[in-house]
Amino acid sequence: MSPNPLIPTIATIKDIIPETGAQDVKTFIVQPDDGEIFPYRPGQCAMLSIFGVGESMISITSTCSRKGPLEFSVKRAGRVTGALHQAEPGHKIGVRGPYGNSFPVEEWKGKNLLFIGGGIGLAPLRSLINYCLDTRRDFQKVDILYGARSPQDLCFKREIFDNWPKGEDAGVHLTVDMGDDSWKGAVALVPHYLEELAPSPENTIAVTCGPPIMIKFTLQSLEKLGFRDNQIVTTLELKMQCGIGKCGRCNIGEKYVCVDGPVFTCEQLRQMPQEY
Ligand SMILES: Cc1cc2nc3c(=O)[nH]c(=O)nc-3n(C[C@H](O)[C@H](O)[C@H](O)COP(=O)(O)OP(=O)(O)OC[C@H]3O[C@@H](n4cnc5c(N)ncnc54)[C@H](O)[C@@H]3O)c2cc1C
Ligand code: FES
Repeated sequence: MSPNPLIPTIATIKDIIPETGAQDVKTFIVQPDDGEIFPYRPGQCAMLSIFGVGESMISITSTCSRKGPLEFSVKRAGRVTGALHQAEPGHKIGVRGPYGNSFPVEEWKGKNLLFIGGGIGLAPLRSLINYCLDTRRDFQKVDILYGARSPQDLCFKREIFDNWPKGEDAGVHLTVDMGDDSWKGAVALVPHYLEELAPSPENTIAVTCGPPIMIKFTLQSLEKLGFRDNQIVTTLELKMQCGIGKCGRCNIGEKYVCVDGPVFTCEQLRQMPQEY
């Protein structure tokens, strides 16, 4: 790794996995050319650079409990993510990180875990879910509620349909806003489906990540179900530049999301100015 935190390490895209039918989300398997994978925790991110175009902060979706290259799942949004989507295996990119805090998994030992994801919001949760399934004995029941606009928009299909449902005492609950002829699962918005499933808040931590509108209504549903603010954890995706608390691009009040976040409890968010 570079000794200067702002200088990226050169890395090679080894493989690209299209996640959605529209191919607007792809997972990039990335290997640093110096062979060194930096140590990271679930919830941390890295700045990916496309040379001559720019940089974007992306959650690390691979899992530190498994050996292997870094994985990033990227939704095509604009200049940098668009250029990344044009890349082919073998393309060189820059990677710097890891950045941000991580999910406080040590504090959750002995608790039930409820993961609630929407769309590409499953990317940071995937790292965490795989970590928790790899350290399964540390936790009680694990439930995963994941939704997308349509069956075609569900990401990480191998995990949501095959791997995670096989996890010990793990429930996977999938929903789409709009089904198709092949869809046999629930058709409901994530917060509505959450209320229908009505998980108990007792000894449970709820972790949610997804589009802002989903988060807004999911927090209300969790509150209705009796979850307290300190039982709810989410991640923020503010625009970022340096990633190391120096440029002031991502601050909310006195907090820098790139350093103090992106993972916050709802209790912490309520104490911050509502600028996100
Ligand atoms: C901590 C963190 C983790 C993230 N993890 C992921 C991830 O795992 N996968 C993923 O696909 N994306 C993730 N993002 C969002 C990603 O960084 C932006 O989509 C990306 O930087 C857009 O860059 P661009 O040059 O392609 O788009 P631009 O050309 O800069 O912008 C295109 C559009 O996207 C909007 N936009 C740009 N950045 C953001 C942002 N951070 N949040 C919301 N809207 C934005 C712009 O306002 C504009 O409307 C994450 C962001 C943060 C801060
Ligand atoms: S991105 Fe520069 S301070 Fe957070």
